[in-house]
Amino acid sequence: MTDIEPDCIDAQIHWYPVAASREVGEGRIMQSFLDGQELALWRSADGEAHAWENRCPHRGTRFSLGWVAADTLSCAYHGWRFGKDGACTYIPAKPNLSPPRSACAKTYAVREAGGLIWATLGDASWRGIGDVQMPNAFCRGFVVYRSPHATRSFLLDHFAAARAGGAVMEQRDESGTRRVLFLQPMSGERTVIYLWIDTEDEADSGARVEAMLRAARAFRELRTQLEASAHDAPAGSRR
Ligand code: FES
Repeated sequence: MTDIEPDCIDAQIHWYPVAASREVGEGRIMQSFLDGQELALWRSADGEAHAWENRCPHRGTRFSLGWVAADTLSCAYHGWRFGKDGACTYIPAKPNLSPPRSACAKTYAVREAGGLIWATLGDASWRGIGDVQMPNAFCRGFVVYRSPHATRSFLLDHFAAARAGGAVMEQRDESGTRRVLFLQPMSGERTVIYLWIDTEDEADSGARVEAMLRAARAFRELRTQLEASAHDAPAGSRR
């Protein structure tokens, strides 16, 4: 495995996970954060995931307070509806008016891979999740109250880094179980770490659940060490 981008966590030029796919079911809207940008994640009736700036272009109400109807997202305040491309399609107070082109939500590029929803704030093309072989069991996501750079710096003492803007790491624990981490840089103070493991147990077996819980417990201890550690952002970094 090659670390080709050792210190580069930057959502303008890389893609990062913003939620587990299962968290954003059809017709749901969810608030998330990427590199300080607040997002509204939602899934239209055709199963497609979307990541928008969490701010209605009309009066700034959070989209995450609204609702999804088929392929449109409606704002909770005045009920303006927006299509999947972000353009306003309907204004309830002026039903005969064609919405102006300027009435458009800010949208971001989205992909789904490895059971996660990925987004970028810039125009980088999607390069997948590097050369990581995807594990088969998603344990859980951990919120860490440390900057993405400090988090990554600490974890590199325990895990090897993969591609994807420094967002993917993997390692085998003492029992030989392969663990893979995906990092979501939320802001300068918070990072989410999604933990996956490989297990040979049956998909719906108790042994599999036990393995996932064991991995989550072990990682929780590592998170405690991380939050107490002196690892900090590299000199000159943005965080
Ligand atoms: S603030 Fe969203 S429709 Fe008015």
